[in-house]
Amino acid sequence: MKLWASLALSVTLATSVAAEDYLESRQPRLQVFKPSTGCEDNFNISIYHVNDIHAHLDEITTSGTDCTKPQNGCYGGYARIKAVVDAGRKTVKNSLFLNMGDEFQGTLFYSFYGGEKIADTLNQLSFDAMTLGNHEFDHGDAYLGAFLNNLTMPLVCANVDSQDPIVNSTVKPYHVFPQYKLAVIAVTTDTIPSISNSDDTTTFADPIKTAQYWADYVYAHEHVERVVAMTHIGYDVDIALARNTTGIHLVIGGHSHTLLGDMAGAAGPYPTIETNLDGEEVYVVTAYRYGEYLGRIDVEFDPSGKIVSYAGGPIHLTNETAQDADLQAQIEAWRVPFDAFGNEVIGDTTLLLNHNGCKTAECNFGDLICDAMLAYRANQSDVAGCFVNGGGIRVDLPVGNVTRGDVITAFPFGNAVTEVVLTGKELWDIFAGEAAGVSVTNNKAVVTFAQISQGVRMTYNPTTKTLIDLEVGQGGEMSTVDFGASYRMVTSDYVAGGGDNIMPARSDIIVLDTLDEVLTAYIQRVRTVNVPLQGRVVFTNETTPVRP
Ligand SMILES: *[C@@H]1O[C@H](CO)[C@@H](O)[C@H](O)[C@H]1NC(C)=O
Ligand SMILES: *[C@@H]1O[C@H](CO)[C@@H](O)[C@H](O)[C@H]1NC(C)=O
Ligand SMILES: *[C@@H]1O[C@H](CO)[C@@H](O)[C@H](O)[C@H]1NC(C)=O
Ligand SMILES: *[C@@H]1O[C@H](CO)[C@@H](O)[C@H](O)[C@H]1NC(C)=O
Ligand SMILES: *[C@@H]1O[C@H](CO)[C@@H](O)[C@H](O)[C@H]1NC(C)=O
Ligand SMILES: *[C@@H]1O[C@H](CO)[C@@H](O)[C@H](O)[C@H]1NC(C)=O
Ligand SMILES: *[C@@H]1O[C@H](CO)[C@@H](O)[C@H](O)[C@H]1NC(C)=O
Ligand SMILES: *[C@@H]1O[C@H](CO)[C@@H](O)[C@H](O)[C@H]1NC(C)=O
Repeated sequence: MKLWASLALSVTLATSVAAEDYLESRQPRLQVFKPSTGCEDNFNISIYHVNDIHAHLDEITTSGTDCTKPQNGCYGGYARIKAVVDAGRKTVKNSLFLNMGDEFQGTLFYSFYGGEKIADTLNQLSFDAMTLGNHEFDHGDAYLGAFLNNLTMPLVCANVDSQDPIVNSTVKPYHVFPQYKLAVIAVTTDTIPSISNSDDTTTFADPIKTAQYWADYVYAHEHVERVVAMTHIGYDVDIALARNTTGIHLVIGGHSHTLLGDMAGAAGPYPTIETNLDGEEVYVVTAYRYGEYLGRIDVEFDPSGKIVSYAGGPIHLTNETAQDADLQAQIEAWRVPFDAFGNEVIGDTTLLLNHNGCKTAECNFGDLICDAMLAYRANQSDVAGCFVNGGGIRVDLPVGNVTRGDVITAFPFGNAVTEVVLTGKELWDIFAGEAAGVSVTNNKAVVTFAQISQGVRMTYNPTTKTLIDLEVGQGGEMSTVDFGASYRMVTSDYVAGGGDNIMPARSDIIVLDTLDEVLTAYIQRVRTVNVPLQGRVVFTNETTPVRP
């Protein structure tokens, strides 16, 4: 569980970037992908959307960290989003600007200010509606209520049932835009009780069934001709929702940080077009994470509520995109107290936490981070162990006091904890790749060695580079992995996404807190860290693997 004081950040602590000269905004040229049928009774609307900004109020590098080297490129930031949306909305008759949640958690703007500066920013952006992400519940329902109370836009989420009086009265299942005869209904992930910190009395109903219920309800009870679903359920569940419902022709999502479009690395097309239970097209869109891209889709609805043409695509917000100068100045001013916050002592270490060699062998800093990650999940989930890339540890922590800033410098990438379920065979293959230095699945080099937690033991022959045994188990009772069994493992979103070629990439990754936050909380809890090398990676001269 998260404690207020335990929150750290995923930002480098250098003072704010000096204002640079930015080139004039280049308004995106929207390409019409599906031509209009030209019917006079049709209705056109431009929809801008963001999701999973995770407190990245200011511009970032492509990996999501503070942009301290502008000459290498800076992306996103709410000042750019505001400039593009404000300019774009002036050029069209009908438009909406929607927020799919997960504004909380990810940078010092949240760790230091909580929801305050986020709410201030969101209100200046003039969103027409917002739904709730899982991270909005990270401090419980009362804190969420205080945040929602500060927001001026309609808050929509149909599948939450909270006993908190403010959450209960501010969040509604749908919102109607009468001028557009359009309703937005919204749903969030029903996994929140196991991945965030919602109150024990708060429940989340099935998002797909709830969306269908409220879509039917608004068609029956409101003067609307079209329904848009705002979701925070992840791209895969968005697709399931699209296929398994009727009357919803546009799904705008978040949660899985999925990049859609025709750029390199995209997980699918923007929009992804699915077919619903009536055999009609449903358009699924989402806009990656951290505000690097702004979603924009222009749709033409026919009088029955179906989409008959569309244009648009994610807008890459780069250093060529203008910033709203007034908002950017506020954001930079909010950075001023961050340095002092970073100097706060969170605990101390009696031994050097070594990062040298973590890329090629077990290291004590690797033992510590994986133990912290495992402990973070162990109370909430049936996790067997942790593995994480050694290359993600960037600096040593010397003997003595450890500050927040030290931890951020060691884990500067904003990578977050996630869980993956792997069969024993898949786990064996991962570690056979570690031993060989070459992945068993794709025959390419494994970039950095995997650090492991307590409860995992890897035995290999360094001469033949063969994995001899891989054991898991708690309380000293270790046994060789069972090829047929499943193991829930803690790792980082970077590793689960194929980073350092440790495991085959997963596409639908649910991120929890960042590694620096998790380690900060762990050190605050134990206060004094005393971690010699644990000997979880054992060398042997054996040449024959133990057959699981
Ligand atoms: C909607 O937009 C399309 C594409 O720009 C255009 O061809 C069509 O005439 C518009 N329809 C209405 C009713 O404005
Ligand atoms: C803008 O970003 C590009 C990389 O995308 C970089 O090469 C260039 O130096 C940046 N320009 C400025 C003015 O910082
Ligand atoms: C709500 O706004 C007040 C006044 O600006 C601020 O003090 C408070 O921290 C905000 N709370 C949250 C949770 O955003
Ligand atoms: C408010 O409480 C009622 C009754 O428990 C419940 O049905 C509804 O879902 C709640 N609304 C929210 C937003 O939690
Ligand atoms: C529809 O929902 C059912 C039950 O929730 C699920 O098993 C199925 O996979 C879904 N169908 C599609 C096409 O996603
Ligand atoms: C897990 O639960 C134990 C026992 O209640 C508690 O001492 C520990 O602090 C918890 N760990 C975390 C990470 O919350
Ligand atoms: C370590 O931190 C404590 C608490 O902040 C402080 O009292 C002490 O002087 C620090 N020690 C050193 C060597 O900086
Ligand atoms: C492997 O064999 C060599 C040569 O006999 C020996 O020096 C070394 O200690 C052995 N290593 C292990 C891990 O048993």
